[in-house]
Amino acid sequence: EQIKKGNYEHFMQKEIHEQPESLTTTMRGRLIRGGDSKLKGVLLGGLKDHLWTIRHCRRIIFIGCGTSYNAALASRAIVEELSGVPVTMELASDLLDRQGPIYREDTAVFVSQSGETADTLLALEYALQKGALCVGITNTVGSAIARKTHCGVHINAGCEIGVASTKAYTSQIAVMAMLALAVGEDSISSRGRRERILDGLLNLPNKVREVLKMDSEMKELAKLLMGEQSLLMFGRGYNYATALEGALKVKEVALMHSEGILAGEMKHGPLALVDETLPIIVIATHDACFSKQQSVIQQLQARKGRLIVMCSKGEASLVCPNGGSRVIEVPQVDDCLQPIINIIPLQLLAYHITVLRGYNVDQPRNLAKSVTTE
Ligand code: G6P
Repeated sequence: EQIKKGNYEHFMQKEIHEQPESLTTTMRGRLIRGGDSKLKGVLLGGLKDHLWTIRHCRRIIFIGCGTSYNAALASRAIVEELSGVPVTMELASDLLDRQGPIYREDTAVFVSQSGETADTLLALEYALQKGALCVGITNTVGSAIARKTHCGVHINAGCEIGVASTKAYTSQIAVMAMLALAVGEDSISSRGRRERILDGLLNLPNKVREVLKMDSEMKELAKLLMGEQSLLMFGRGYNYATALEGALKVKEVALMHSEGILAGEMKHGPLALVDETLPIIVIATHDACFSKQQSVIQQLQARKGRLIVMCSKGEASLVCPNGGSRVIEVPQVDDCLQPIINIIPLQLLAYHITVLRGYNVDQPRNLAKSVTTE
């Protein structure tokens, strides 16, 4: 039944709209309540015997390809914040090309929807040889990565058919937020922060339902953008990953050039591209980087950039006080979960641009769901 499209025209569309349910399944049985029925922590059964080792390791290395890498990047800051352990990022192919150093005292976390991606699997074999603790985060029970890692977490997002990953991405981020909570100590100083994240996780499916109502708004935006040759996306902090992943979706399915750019790097090159014609999506939802994003928007507007600004609901006049730019307002959630909300309008946008351009949404040209060769 799961591999049928139901009332949807394409698997990608179905999988985007399934996210309230896939996230619910990802979290099922994993959020733990105390005696007072307040949420007090998470239980990740596949990690429980290894938490001490992860907490005391020298560094955590996130390793993946494509969308899975972007999900790991979106989670990096919260894992560092709650665990206090430095987290470094590796694209699997680049780690292998460099034969980068990995030590026995490292924890290597392999993120892969399929659990079969050749580059990620080879990087896992490399890290096993080096003696690191290897953790798998996959969507496929019994996959090579799930079998060969020492321990891990299944994201339980359900079968994903569309080549472009959507619901697996949001479930991967939810799992890694839970991983951050599991690895981080429950100290008095972090309690408020932890409780807000736990409540945020619990409410996430409702917030996702709310943001999915933007489907027709994103279709209208797709009509405006369908003829473009290029689309830039600027993000920073938690939403640098959103910019990369949004651009990856547009590239993969809509076959349109799109680039995710770290807003902090804008003045070191990308600013030269800004003119009245090139569309730029700026992600400026409310978090610790908000005032920096406000100033990025001002600088882009001063150069007559053609902006589409994603902001938290009710903040349109804060991000664009003088108007002039199109605004996408999304519900606000805890900062470390905001990438889950923010990617959804961009998934919808990529989907609609693709359909309008008449391309194959579920099986884009030249791409495969699982790349099992190096
Ligand atoms: C392929 C797919 C992408 C995916 C990547 C990593 O390139 O087309 O959608 O993100 O592989 O796949 P994995 O199964 O390891 O997450």
